[in-house]
Amino acid sequence: MKVVCIGAGYVGSVTGAAFAALGHHTTVIDIDTNKVNAINEGTSPIFEPGLEALIRKFSGRTLAATNQYEVVTDADVVFIGVGTPSKEDGSADLKYIELAARNIAEHLDRNRYTVIVNKSTVPVGTAEHVTALISQYSNLTNNEHFSVISNPEFLREGYAVEDVFLPDRIVIGTMDNQARSVMKELYSQLMDLQKPIEVLQEIGLAVQPKDELPVYFETDTRSAEMIKYASNAFLAVKISYINEVARLCEALQSNALDVAKGMGLDSRIGNKFLQVSSGWSGSCFPKDTAEFLAASRKHGRELNVVKAAVESNLEMHAYIVEKTKRKLGTLFGKRIGFLGLTFKPNTDDTRNTQASIIIQMMLGQGANIQVHDPQGMEMFRHINPNLPIAYCDQAEQVALNADAVILLTHWEEYVHLDWNEMGNMMNFKYVLDTRNFLSSHFIRDKGFHYEGLGVGI
Ligand code: UGA
Repeated sequence: MKVVCIGAGYVGSVTGAAFAALGHHTTVIDIDTNKVNAINEGTSPIFEPGLEALIRKFSGRTLAATNQYEVVTDADVVFIGVGTPSKEDGSADLKYIELAARNIAEHLDRNRYTVIVNKSTVPVGTAEHVTALISQYSNLTNNEHFSVISNPEFLREGYAVEDVFLPDRIVIGTMDNQARSVMKELYSQLMDLQKPIEVLQEIGLAVQPKDELPVYFETDTRSAEMIKYASNAFLAVKISYINEVARLCEALQSNALDVAKGMGLDSRIGNKFLQVSSGWSGSCFPKDTAEFLAASRKHGRELNVVKAAVESNLEMHAYIVEKTKRKLGTLFGKRIGFLGLTFKPNTDDTRNTQASIIIQMMLGQGANIQVHDPQGMEMFRHINPNLPIAYCDQAEQVALNADAVILLTHWEEYVHLDWNEMGNMMNFKYVLDTRNFLSSHFIRDKGFHYEGLGVGI
């Protein structure tokens, strides 16, 4: 098939590279020539484990990139994977989706049938909105010349390549039978584990073995659009809940690690997304919960549980500041070292990261801040150009004259730091491990005051 992916960001480049690897002639369109050149030169436009190997292998063969829309004319399937940033009221700004719709409309071929797929996370009703725009700008007939459907992506940053080849589910939202059969054919190779595993082995990406096939789920467009928001919001609620329980565990001297484990043994609850943290963040959960809430308010059905999860998450960020202050007596004039700025490991993404909120709160109380992240420092500095903080090239340097070292992101390399040396450099040897990631015995044996989150003190 001929596939086009609009947007060479996280969604478009991963989706495009995956379909190219499955043998479809795939073109990624982006206005950013740096991204276009990167793909055509066989490199990745974004940091994502495994993506560069995939692009290197298929660029110039089944994968190409361009900043022109002409390729849409020959396409069987066009994925829209552009950004949907938040507006001031939290609702999603659809300007890039609308621009893509107009550009697609101007290049559709009236002699063929094209499926246009909303892959970005978009509000319920967007497929209908895009259909109206395309009809208006192309004068072509919906369901005859083209069809706009919903096929939300469920990729996790850091594991996107694994997730795109070995998904739990593929959700297709359309009642148009022709579109359904095109999508079924497009995804047919993912419904057999052999080809995906072959590709992952070829690019040398170590993945969790999986023997269950994905569930291929067809529904109507509006339900598919809703599934994406309802899923992300549910996961955010789950994390907020365990984080609140962890705070209570500290007050009642229970151990949140054991509590989460014990809860997760119930298959109705499951053990995933019960890891205590300084709160969820990133480029998806904050944006998607905000849009979901804005939509619910607009329709007079406010999602109280989601609203509480968002508030509770902000409280969790503030709790880290409070906990540090409780230990040090004051934050004024204290020097705090941060390990990790990204919202989770294996990504360079520092958009909407809890690190920036926690750091700003501490700066507001007069603390001096020094930070390290293996991948995220460049983006963090770019997003927060005016923050008066020191960036450390070596992780150990965050300990220099510090009164506390706070681990925010559980990068594997932080386990292997020279903790002896760090202890020698510190003014007061306090480690706050917000992911309960380090070995408490190991760190305490080195003379640190070590605290995790929710593990009783
Ligand atoms: C999330 C969803 O998990 C994906 O399914 C979805 O496709 C994606 O959003 C999206 O909408 O594009 P992602 O934002 O990459 O993926 O990150 P997650 O792995 O879900 O983590 C989100 C945040 O929750 C991170 O800050 C993470 O550290 C935190 N988290 C996660 C916890 O604090 N505890 C947990 O147990 C799990």
